[in-house]
Amino acid sequence: MQISQEMIKAINEQISHEASSANAYIAIGSWCERTGYDGSASFFLEQAAEEKEHMLKFIHYLNNAGYEAIIPAIEKPPGSFESLEASFRFGLDSERKVTKEIYELVDIAAKEKDYSTYTFLQWFVTEQTEEETLFQTILQKFELLGRDKLAIYQVDQSLSSIRSKVGGMQQN
Ligand SMILES: [Fe+2]
Ligand SMILES: [Fe+2]
Repeated sequence: MQISQEMIKAINEQISHEASSANAYIAIGSWCERTGYDGSASFFLEQAAEEKEHMLKFIHYLNNAGYEAIIPAIEKPPGSFESLEASFRFGLDSERKVTKEIYELVDIAAKEKDYSTYTFLQWFVTEQTEEETLFQTILQKFELLGRDKLAIYQVDQSLSSIRSKVGGMQQN
């Protein structure tokens, strides 16, 4: 299987983006934990584990095709947030950015008629749709329940089972 230099470079950049996402979610999870948002802390730490899986999928793809996956240094993520809602807004914005990045990879694969990479990327296209839906569903809870202390507590408590409720989440 031949992968172009442009595609390899773009996939390596995506490895870096997934690593940054994992790190950012660990930072949010840590902030949630020390602030007392236990449900959200476990939610974000599980998100971080998923991002690490995404990173590994790209690493395996390049290595198995005979190219070098580059393990990046990661910038320090934000360490605190204005509110629980702001942390989920950060998550949604970040997922939207990643969706654009995945689409750019798909564009390159299509342009180069690299059908192997194109097919490999379809999993990520579906995954990003689900990730955006998940964060939107959680943000919607603040609209439904409100933003007083009890409402925020209820949103936080509801997060331990959110994945099964949104449903249809694909396996890694
Ligand atoms: Fe990801
Ligand atoms: Fe994600």
